[in-house]
Amino acid sequence: MNSNSPILLFDSGFGGLTVLSALRAQLPQAPVIYAADTAGLPYGEKTEAEVAARVAGLLGRLAERYQPRLICIACNTASTIALGMVRDVLETPIVGTVPAIKPAAAMTKTGTIGLLGTAATIRQAYVDNLEAKFANGSRLLRHAAPELVAAAECKLRDQTPDPAVFRRAADGLRQQDGGENIDTVVLACTHFPLVQDELAEAFGEQVQFIDGAQGIARRIAFLTQGQSFDRQGDDLAIVTGEGEDDPALLHGLAQFGIGRIARF
Ligand code: DGL
Repeated sequence: MNSNSPILLFDSGFGGLTVLSALRAQLPQAPVIYAADTAGLPYGEKTEAEVAARVAGLLGRLAERYQPRLICIACNTASTIALGMVRDVLETPIVGTVPAIKPAAAMTKTGTIGLLGTAATIRQAYVDNLEAKFANGSRLLRHAAPELVAAAECKLRDQTPDPAVFRRAADGLRQQDGGENIDTVVLACTHFPLVQDELAEAFGEQVQFIDGAQGIARRIAFLTQGQSFDRQGDDLAIVTGEGEDDPALLHGLAQFGIGRIARF
């Protein structure tokens, strides 16, 4: 394994940076390429067929172009729809992002868990299966909060998102039958931890949040155990659409150790 061979993180936009942060803590020397399908954002509003076709096509081309040692689909929407399919067609090891229902079930005291995701994620059978397997008798209430994706993208570019967006997300869970008992909220979209402070304010102190980033980083570290890494300076972000020339975005990405943006 060439020590320059990158780990490729993939998302529709820049939500996967929350996974990159956790990965950096585990593997500071790992060279990373961060790929954002900004031309396809948001995935959460697309059909399953559209997401599957985009993700499979792009990951195939990216794997060929950058020869990554491992691909991480740092996107719940893409993973819950296309992970199995992409694993079938690519030889590169692939780590997906799975809504953190299992740790949430261990954390809840009231037995009522909320889940915020994109519209596409919350309707997946993949999530039904996780609930059946891991919710452990807890009640899982789901709410689609696509506005949070745009809010996170906006915050990354140093703009202030409208606070009403966070209140609407909290109300969307709280106002469901039994929603007043929620004490644990699964952030089942990689964008959402970028606005966790704002969500915490909207939900109030009694709610704790959980996302999958730490678990994914540990999984990547496990799968690359014994490999050598040689990270030479800041990482590269590649975008399929907007973003290449955006100084505010470049400034936001610099906080995550990314120094350049190129078009793919
Ligand atoms: N970051 C993505 C996720 O984890 C989705 C955002 C979107 O493209 O709608 O679900």
